[in-house]
Amino acid sequence: MPTSSPTLSKLALHGGSKVRTKPFPPYKTIGDEEKTAVDQVMDSGILSRFLGCWHDDFYGGPQVQAFEQAWAKHFQVKHAISVNSATSALYAAIGAIGIEPGDEVVVSPYTMSASATAPLVYGAIPIFADIEPDYFCLDPASVEANITSRTKAIVVVDIFGLPYDRDAINDLAQKHGLKVIEDCAQAPGAYHQGKAAGTLADIGIYSLNYHKHIHTGEGGVLVTDDDVLAERLRLIRNHAEAVVDGKPENDYGDLAGLVGFNYRMTEIEAAIGQEQLKKLDGLIQVRQDNVAYLTEKLQEIPCLTPAATRPGCTHAYYQHPILFDAEVAGVHRNTFVQAVQAELAPIELREAEGVKVNVGYVKPLYWQSLYQTRQAFGKGGYPWSAYPESKVSYERGLCPITEKLHLETMIHHELMRPGLSQEDLDDVVTAFSKVWENRHALKESNDGQ
Ligand SMILES: Cc1ncc(COP(=O)(O)O)c(C=O)c1O
Repeated sequence: MPTSSPTLSKLALHGGSKVRTKPFPPYKTIGDEEKTAVDQVMDSGILSRFLGCWHDDFYGGPQVQAFEQAWAKHFQVKHAISVNSATSALYAAIGAIGIEPGDEVVVSPYTMSASATAPLVYGAIPIFADIEPDYFCLDPASVEANITSRTKAIVVVDIFGLPYDRDAINDLAQKHGLKVIEDCAQAPGAYHQGKAAGTLADIGIYSLNYHKHIHTGEGGVLVTDDDVLAERLRLIRNHAEAVVDGKPENDYGDLAGLVGFNYRMTEIEAAIGQEQLKKLDGLIQVRQDNVAYLTEKLQEIPCLTPAATRPGCTHAYYQHPILFDAEVAGVHRNTFVQAVQAELAPIELREAEGVKVNVGYVKPLYWQSLYQTRQAFGKGGYPWSAYPESKVSYERGLCPITEKLHLETMIHHELMRPGLSQEDLDDVVTAFSKVWENRHALKESNDGQ
């Protein structure tokens, strides 16, 4: 990248011109198809058709049922159960597999908070295992090291869009008699050896919130091939306790976990979801093409390594992770990224979020005060206080790979979403290249601090 032009020779951080001032285009997947689908639901007057008692409408109205059938067909799974969010889906999944107070559930520290809080809702204890340094999903060796006689399940996360290490984790689960819940909120449309992410475990969950690949505003879907788990999930979604007594036959296993909630999806969301699902494959393809284009260019920058894809898998690229080498750059990652941010513009309609090139992801979850103070329900320390024999630690240093990625080596960004043109992608590359070429100026300003 030549630095002779005045635009490229002085960093925006130091008063030079920015590579880009125009906002990046928004990620917008809602079109006329969704509008027509919503109009039809409005005309029908039926915005929801769930009844929380034993009745044909216990399973929801025509749009909900059609959406679930379409989802199951698309992902080649026996049952799809719609809910009002992926958070609800996680909670329902933990209930359906019969997690009880005092059980331990192995979770990832590098994910959205609900993947780890779900066990708490049932009085169980989240145990954090470390993640893989290259793929960022739960590391099977660390999971195994955290299994005790109290462990009942593993919540794996297909983080940033990449499926977890299915073979190793599922083998571990089988060996120790554990259930696996796959949090696929970030990876619909990714595949592991030809099988859809989300369908790799006992239960999979997807998110349809507005910043996901496809969305219904808010929403989620659970999938499973297991008939009993599917029925338990449907019960938990819709006031199980009011229904089980009236149900004609016991096709839902035992009663543990069968206090229900209202996790129901509306007919409007289900109608939107059917249209969104038709767009998923095309949207994933664009993400993959954009990342391939960026990777080819960004890997020329010696301090950057765009993250690899696990062999045998495809990536859905909810985010695009990049690893940073501070020794090669001669400056800290945060300084480098701050300079890249200064060169670029935010995404239109999401201006308040700033430039969507970030250091780290969420802070390791066990750093949150919930875990540090162990006050999940009131001040008494439940569930931890009730199970002192559960030797849980949330100390700093617990998951060293996660902490290093978070504090030093991971960059992730969203400037590869459908809607960006090749010129837009070129601006992203130019910003990174410009900062690399001018890294010595950053080092000097760093040294002077
Ligand atoms: C990995 C993961 N799990 C769960 C969720 C929760 O999704 P929802 O907002 O649909 O509840 C999210 C949302 O960002 C997520 O990224």
